[in-house]
Amino acid sequence: MSHLGSPYKLKSLSLRNRIVMSPMCQYSVDAEDGAPNDWHFVHYVSRAVGGTGLVIMEMTDVDPDGRISNRDLGLWSDEHIPAFKRIIDELHKYGAKAAIQIAHAGRKALDAEPPVGPWNEPFQADAKKPRALTTEEAWKVIGQFGDAARRAVQAGVDTIELHGAHGYLIHQFHSPGINKRDDEFGRDYAKFGVEVIRAVKKELPPDMPLLMRISAIEYMDGGYGLDHALEMCRAYRDAGVDLFDVSTGGEGPAGSRKPGNYPGYQVPFARAIREALNVPVIAVGLLDDPKLAESVVANGDADLVAVARGMLRNPYWAIDALRALGDEAPIAKAYLRGY
Ligand SMILES: Cc1cc2nc3c(=O)[nH]c(=O)nc-3n(C[C@H](O)[C@H](O)[C@H](O)COP(=O)(O)O)c2cc1C
Repeated sequence: MSHLGSPYKLKSLSLRNRIVMSPMCQYSVDAEDGAPNDWHFVHYVSRAVGGTGLVIMEMTDVDPDGRISNRDLGLWSDEHIPAFKRIIDELHKYGAKAAIQIAHAGRKALDAEPPVGPWNEPFQADAKKPRALTTEEAWKVIGQFGDAARRAVQAGVDTIELHGAHGYLIHQFHSPGINKRDDEFGRDYAKFGVEVIRAVKKELPPDMPLLMRISAIEYMDGGYGLDHALEMCRAYRDAGVDLFDVSTGGEGPAGSRKPGNYPGYQVPFARAIREALNVPVIAVGLLDDPKLAESVVANGDADLVAVARGMLRNPYWAIDALRALGDEAPIAKAYLRGY
């Protein structure tokens, strides 16, 4: 059996293989006031039928004004639970495990009037000027993360991923280039994220792992580097994060440092966080060549490999990758004759 095809266990989460569907907003299809619809059902369930080990459902926001756009998913109301539960129950039928990526877009909430964030500077020159959250409001948003986590657990998730990357609210708070506050959430850059983690952990069954996506470096001029990300991740790990999903950037327009566009461009960051903090990690970013994905796990760069665009092109990416590596793949009975 390949390394990519081998099972993985983290606390109560047991995966049939090391392949993760990376979270991807489906902006183009109207979510029904935050609730997933039939598009999302077909989209996620087909990747479970396609052999994926863990399906991380897209950025799902804790407040209507925390959405990137009004077409995005949310978990700010108990009314959202049944639509998520319907998808998750079906993912389980096909052997996949389910996560929801819980988030708040902060100053990147395009349809909010106005967006809020740790500070009042927009993420790019032509973006809306955000309003800085008061200390009291920041605590309220932390509570909303806890409430959304409770709803995700009620919907049946196997784990939760916090979105602490790509320039969204948690990232905005831990970015020294963005967060210029002088309250408790500005004096300690990790404070907001740590309090979110604590609020969420309270709602999770004790053995359910908590994942967090992180941007290991920023690309804006003067943005933070890996050392700062390691410091934030250490605080997040100590507060209860069990695994980091390692991405980069997203905080604003890139300066002289540019994101890579070559296979495995973020793998060195995943390995660095894994080694420095002794935590499991997901590597992501142009890893859709099965041999490359296999080498990432086999070389100990990462514990799991996430694929995003490759799975938009091919819902059966996992089955095809496992077969290419010579493994037995989890093919649905109804499809066996195709093989
Ligand atoms: C259509 C689309 C939507 C995305 N939405 C999200 C999202 O909701 N949350 C997130 O953390 N990343 C999001 N991403 C980033 C992907 O999860 C992934 O990190 C990135 O595309 C690199 O992986 P890839 O090279 O396999 O596509 C999105 C990417 C795409 C292409």
